[in-house]
Amino acid sequence: MAGGSEIKRGLDGVVVDASAVSKVMPEINALTYRGYPVQELAENCRFEEVAYLLADGELPTAAELGDFEREERENRGIGEALLAVISRYPPACHPMDTTRTSVSFLGLEDPETADHGPEAARRKAMRLLARIPTAVAADFRRRKGQAPIPPDPSLGFAANFFHMCFAAVPDADVVKAFDVSLTLYAEHGFNASTFTARVVTSTMADMHGAVTAAIASLKGPLHGGANEAVMHMLNEIGEPGRAKRWVLDALAAKRLIMGFGHRVYRTGDSRVPTMKKYFLKVAERKDETVLPAISQIVEDTMIAEKNIYPNLDFPAGPAYHLMGFDIDFFTPIFVISRITGWTAHILEQAAANRLIRPLSHYTGPPQRDFRPIGAR
Ligand code: COA
Repeated sequence: MAGGSEIKRGLDGVVVDASAVSKVMPEINALTYRGYPVQELAENCRFEEVAYLLADGELPTAAELGDFEREERENRGIGEALLAVISRYPPACHPMDTTRTSVSFLGLEDPETADHGPEAARRKAMRLLARIPTAVAADFRRRKGQAPIPPDPSLGFAANFFHMCFAAVPDADVVKAFDVSLTLYAEHGFNASTFTARVVTSTMADMHGAVTAAIASLKGPLHGGANEAVMHMLNEIGEPGRAKRWVLDALAAKRLIMGFGHRVYRTGDSRVPTMKKYFLKVAERKDETVLPAISQIVEDTMIAEKNIYPNLDFPAGPAYHLMGFDIDFFTPIFVISRITGWTAHILEQAAANRLIRPLSHYTGPPQRDFRPIGAR
């Protein structure tokens, strides 16, 4: 107890503010964006429509979507200055750190960084949505010694990202699987990175600062970084015959199994069945049977032994691997999507702002007399 109020470590169960962006309903395993079930959006909409929905509050008409897409495509280019900075990033640094730095740099260049009005905020959110993939793809290629590929305005959001990374767009099923993952990753209530963005926004700092902080928060393996950790785990397991023993040994050693468990969902993550379906589709396209087999055994073992269910990172990690992305780019891909949720929350926080400033229960020494250095 602190000053009569109970300490809620990790803010577990604490309702901090109201939000109209998404609703997480663990009791019925459901997640809605602006009222629409995420599975239905993933199956029936392209990510651009979902980005519009999160920003605007309503799904677009065909004309509204056309305008939104035109604006997104026109804003994809990044300047020579950022390309030069990216070309000088140290060779071995993590792509989440380069993504964080690129977004911070975009804030230095943005003509409206200091304008906190809602119209400027909407335009900045659009520029971030359009440009982050370009910066991430340029970094993806830099690490392979390849020149960046400019965005192609004739391609949709998902296809263009493949084009900028690989100089090729895979077949429609693979692009759809990637697009589905972007929709599923786009928004999730007051998760750690979104809350980080809202805390920064609550001080009336700028949007790029809030997003930079959110990226730093997302990197951690207890949050977005789990999709990378899942793939390292599946690689370490290596073959289906080892999977059950590996999980049992890890549990006996009190190790966390990455891609399992969730602070809010306790009986399964509503995004998982959709992502699993598309992971299996990509695996089929690539004639890959080992990863689905290992994944199924790990999932069955975790449910049987611990009654802990997979979260979205569990099927998303191996899906991204099969699409050809390097493991440490999985979380930057999460950024490419979650920017939509973050900016929706930043606008919501700014529109009804109250500085976020909780209290702590002090456990240090009691007040004592100061003695100058010679008298200690
Ligand atoms: N593997 C093994 N055990 C797990 C586990 C996992 N992935 N997730 C939770 N548990 C165990 C905890 O160790 C704890 O056991 P205990 O009661 O014996 O101490 C119990 O389940 C309850 O978990 P708790 O630590 O209260 O959950 P939390 O709400 O604090 O943490 C996560 C939620 C997501 C941080 C946690 O499940 C986790 O670390 N998962 C792995 C990382 C991951 O996939 N993150 C992505 C989240 S979308």
